[in-house]
Amino acid sequence: MNRSFPIILLLIAGMAAFASCKRDDPNEELPPPSSGATPYHLEIPSNLPPMQFPADNPLTVEGIDLGRFLFYEKRLSGDNGMSCASCHAPSLAFSDGKAVSKGIDSIAGFRSSMPLINLGYSQFFFWDGRASSLEQQILEPVKNPIEMHDTWPNAMSKLQADAVYPILFERAFGTDQIDSLLVAKAVAQFIRTMVSGNSPFDKWRRNEGSVPVDAQLGFDLFQKEGGAIGQIIPVAGSTPVIGQGGADCFHCHTADAGLFTDEQFHNNGLDMNFTDPGRAGVTDDPADMAKFKTPTLRNIMVTAPYMHDGRFANINEVLNHYNTGGHPSATVDPFMKFTDPDMELGLTPTKRQQIISFLNSLTDEEFLTNPAFQDPGSPHL
Ligand code: HEC
Ligand code: HEC
Repeated sequence: MNRSFPIILLLIAGMAAFASCKRDDPNEELPPPSSGATPYHLEIPSNLPPMQFPADNPLTVEGIDLGRFLFYEKRLSGDNGMSCASCHAPSLAFSDGKAVSKGIDSIAGFRSSMPLINLGYSQFFFWDGRASSLEQQILEPVKNPIEMHDTWPNAMSKLQADAVYPILFERAFGTDQIDSLLVAKAVAQFIRTMVSGNSPFDKWRRNEGSVPVDAQLGFDLFQKEGGAIGQIIPVAGSTPVIGQGGADCFHCHTADAGLFTDEQFHNNGLDMNFTDPGRAGVTDDPADMAKFKTPTLRNIMVTAPYMHDGRFANINEVLNHYNTGGHPSATVDPFMKFTDPDMELGLTPTKRQQIISFLNSLTDEEFLTNPAFQDPGSPHL
């Protein structure tokens, strides 16, 4: 009998265990950054899924620090007066509290600023999903004429002339030659650290705390089918569902992975005639007309006004919209089941108040006030 056999088995088992714990932490699997920068381990709350990072842009301490300076850097705009944070303020979950955002020339855009929350999990960016990576997304606002309205060469020469930035780029990426792609990488790293998963709701789910009973009942409604209990409700193109007296929200703002978005595009019945093509503006497919990215509902109580054009001033207006079922149209989502003017979702005042209490429990004070997200001042070593 070979006595080393059990030892070899143990070794193999040990290696397998090691390999599998590495798999849970994709950040750790990546090769160290070529620049010699320090790998950064991002803490992910246990009720959120593991986050994958692009192989060519792993998180590093130096990259995130640089990204934070750049996020607050007004020299990225044509008049040196506006930074990313001008429309993405940390206390508002990185939105701006306006219906539509205005750029440096005070020209109003036609869409509302989006909160920046858990975007490391996203595959599509902007309301219409026209960017497919954070790195790609970030290249846009700097040159957008109704946002920061600069040119990248001009913005880059301002940073290159700074006494500190070339050193920060050298530390993060191993070169002091600043270009737009490295700016995009650094800012993308900073945005990936914007993880929200410590709201009262999260702590309740992790058995670390509680939320009011009303919030628990509100979550229950959120997770249930709309329509009177037992009522058979037709769903266009799908099998009918049986009403559960709920609010239907879960179909799109999926709670299972803790993200409150299904990362898909839907028409939630805002209009009968469309002024903004939404997703169809990207795909050219008429079936995508007026479909928009499902936004997360995390920190939703601090990000009013609501929807892609900021049309609803407060959460009551949002619930009125869903309760009346929205407008029918060729592309309205089949799970907007009550667009028929004679039907209603049936959100009584009590149910609304419970849903609002649940939405309140998604406000993550640690996220909104995290010192690591605040303005670091002018770039320094
Ligand atoms: C003038 C206001 C304004 C400025 C400045 C601005 N943004 Fe935005 N941001 C917006 C608006 C409006 C949208 C939605 C645009 C759309 O969907 O067409 C948006 C969308 C985004 C998104 C997509 C979020 C998602 O869930 O898909 C990210 C990421 C983002 N901005 C990051 C940045 C960064 C980084 C900067 C600085 C380089 C920046 N923004 C500067 C207004 C602004
Ligand atoms: C059919 C899919 C779908 C269903 C069902 C649905 N939503 Fe939405 N929700 C969306 C989409 C898509 C948007 C963005 C629409 C836009 O801006 O044009 C949105 C936007 C919102 C917003 C505004 C978010 C922001 O950042 O401006 C809130 C709040 C909201 N939904 C809450 C709810 C609640 C509460 C329910 C249940 C009563 C619900 N939703 C049901 C898809 C859905």
